[in-house]
Amino acid sequence: MHAFVTGGAGYIGSAMVHTLVQHEYEVTVLDNLSQGHRAAVHPDATFIEGDLRDRDLVDTVLRERDLDAIMHFASKSLVGESMEDPMLYLDQNVRCGVNLMHSAVEHGVDRFILSSTANLFGTPEEIPIDEDERVDPGSPYGESKRILERMLHWLDELDRLRFATLRYFNAAGAVSPDLGEDHDPETHLIPIVLEVAQGIREKMEIYGNDYDTPDGTCVRDFVHVKDLAQAHIRALEALDNGSRVYNLGNGDGYSVREVIDTARDVTGCEISAEVGPPRPGDPATLVASSAKIREELGWSPEYDTLEAILSSAWAWHQKHPNGYDEV
Ligand code: UFG
Repeated sequence: MHAFVTGGAGYIGSAMVHTLVQHEYEVTVLDNLSQGHRAAVHPDATFIEGDLRDRDLVDTVLRERDLDAIMHFASKSLVGESMEDPMLYLDQNVRCGVNLMHSAVEHGVDRFILSSTANLFGTPEEIPIDEDERVDPGSPYGESKRILERMLHWLDELDRLRFATLRYFNAAGAVSPDLGEDHDPETHLIPIVLEVAQGIREKMEIYGNDYDTPDGTCVRDFVHVKDLAQAHIRALEALDNGSRVYNLGNGDGYSVREVIDTARDVTGCEISAEVGPPRPGDPATLVASSAKIREELGWSPEYDTLEAILSSAWAWHQKHPNGYDEV
C-alpha cells in the first residue's frame, strides 16, 4: 500500500508517517514546512516540499504516483487563531482540502482519511461526546473541518471514494524522545506546561477559571499521538467495508489545573501558573466517547493515563529543549 500523507512533517502527521513505515507502507509526504519540520519526516518516506494550494502540483503528484490512500493532515489547526483570523481557516483549510479531493477523484485515489476535530462540537449536549452529537462547530477552524467532512460525505454518496474522518480530541505525547511536538509559536497546553517546568518559560497563564467545570478550568481529553496513528491504520484497513466517522479520545477528561498538577508530579518541577482571561472559542468541556471505534475496529489506547502521555512528552522536551532546531 502506498499512502500519501499531507502535512507529514507536522506533529500528528509525522507520527502517522512513522507508524505507516513501521507497518511497511510506502509513504509519500507533501508538506510546505510552514508548521512542520523536515527532520520530523521518517527517512524512509519520500518527501515533497510543496503547498496544497498549488493545484497543478497536487495533480502532478497524484497522477504520477501509484497511490492507494490519502491521509490529509495538512491544516491550520488553532482554535484561538481561527477566531482572530477566520478567513485563514475558511479559505485556506477549505481550499487545500478541495484541491486534494478534486485531484483524488480525478486520479482515482479512492481511499481518503481526514484529520478532523473535536471542535466540531462547540456546545455539546452530552458528555462524553459520541458520533450522534449535533455538529455545531465552536470556531472557524471547526467549521472548516465540517465543510470537508460534508464534501467527503457526498463523494462517498456518489461513489467517488471511501473515507474515514477521525475527530481527534487533544493530541498529546511524543512518539519517542526524538519525535515530538514542536510548534512555533507554541500555544498548546502540554508543551507550554513542560516549557515552564524546564525553565524555558517563567510561568504560564490558565485561560479562565470560571467555566462550568469542577475546578472552573477547561476540561479536555488527551490522546497520545501514537494511539491516534494506530487508529488511522485501523480505519484505513476497514475502508473497503465502507466509509466511517469516529470520535477519538481516551474518554477521560482532565482540567487545565489537573494537567499542571500531574505535570508537577511527572517532572518533579515547580510550574508557576496564574489565571488570566478565557481564550475565545474554547468550549468548557470536550471529552470523547470512543465506544464506536473501540467496538467496530477493536482500537484501544495504549497510553490511557495522563501520566503516560506527559512522561513521553517530557522525555522529548528534555532531549530536545529547542525542538527540531538543534541550537
Ligand atoms: N490553555 C491554557 N493555557 C495555555 C494554553 C492552553 O489554559 O497556555 C488551555 C486552553 O484554554 C484549553 C486547554 O488548555 O482549555 C487546551 O488548549 P490547547 O491549546 O492545548 O488545545 P485546544 O483544546 O484549544 O485545541 C486542540 C487542538 C485543536 C483541536 C482541539 C480538539 O489544537 O486543533 O484540541 O479538542 F481542535
